[in-house]
Amino acid sequence: MKIIQRAVPKPKPAEDSALGFGKYFTDYIFTMRYREGIGWYDAAVVPNEPIAFDPAASVFHYAQGIFEGMKAFLQPDGSIGVFRPEENWARMQRSADRMCIPAFPEALAEEGLETLLRLEKDWIPHGPGTALYIRPAIVATRAELGVHASSEYLFFILLSPVGSYFAHGTQPVKLLAEDVYARVAPGGTGEAKCLGNYAASLKAAEIARRKGFDQVLWLDPAEKKYVEEVGSMNIFFVIDGETVTPSLSGTILPGITRKSCIAILNNLGRRVSERRISVEELVKASQAGTLTEAFGTGTAAVISPVGEICYRGETMKIGTQMGETAALLYDTLTGIQRGTLPDRYGWVKKIF
Ligand code: COI
Repeated sequence: MKIIQRAVPKPKPAEDSALGFGKYFTDYIFTMRYREGIGWYDAAVVPNEPIAFDPAASVFHYAQGIFEGMKAFLQPDGSIGVFRPEENWARMQRSADRMCIPAFPEALAEEGLETLLRLEKDWIPHGPGTALYIRPAIVATRAELGVHASSEYLFFILLSPVGSYFAHGTQPVKLLAEDVYARVAPGGTGEAKCLGNYAASLKAAEIARRKGFDQVLWLDPAEKKYVEEVGSMNIFFVIDGETVTPSLSGTILPGITRKSCIAILNNLGRRVSERRISVEELVKASQAGTLTEAFGTGTAAVISPVGEICYRGETMKIGTQMGETAALLYDTLTGIQRGTLPDRYGWVKKIF
């Protein structure tokens, strides 16, 4: 892999405890380009510096772009462990297909990521709850205003040392169930990790934030009846002792942390199911006292407990701290990721 050295390294963040999420970026990025007729070319690790784009590049006008989120952790044996990268590459290929972006060479992307991680090992934070967040993305770069798939793309991987996604760490978050706006639509791009889904979520998120909530709980876009996801995480509930999460409907992101949590619970012999969950069912379970936990799952969010959910002016109070199931999943998942628990699933790819 070609590496272009930078002249001066950037200063590293002083303290692991004040990293926040996605505020610092490392010295280098991986990039490769695509041009119709040539394919993917110019793969290299290069200094992380501003990149020039034509103002007419399709990504700026028609949001033809996708991204992923992964995490790397220092392992007790000194290696770098990346959590389930093959799952992210596979999802990225599916997102690319949905957004008419050409398939990318996974082996080359993985080689680029590994080269980058070896070079940036000193940026991996050590503190509890921290990780090196990996953000691969593909954006359409062809300068043309016709609405059609671009013939040129840039693939890049950014690295960012991170702490908790939420400013208040693992304290329970407050969600507002959204019954007016939708972020996606049936037949739309909800299950792809594409740029527009996130732009479409901002208005409702901003309204929720102004009302004192941390995030929006999205309901199904067709009927606004069934719970879907939180936008930066998938959602789980514990009702009557069973852990339930909305089944993948085409409008929900197929989360890798979601999938891992289901596997862990199944493996422990816990009752867990994927099914449609109406917001009315949650209201009733809350009134009956059988809604004992709610938590979000995601690469960035890890396992984030949900303390309350407001729906049409009524608040379901769920808990003031992380519940038993969420804590079990948090400990198991982060233990596997950090190499302090045995990786019985073979989820951590070690890079030496
Ligand atoms: C992730 O969890 O990696 C995400 O991409 C969610 C969000 C930060 C956009």
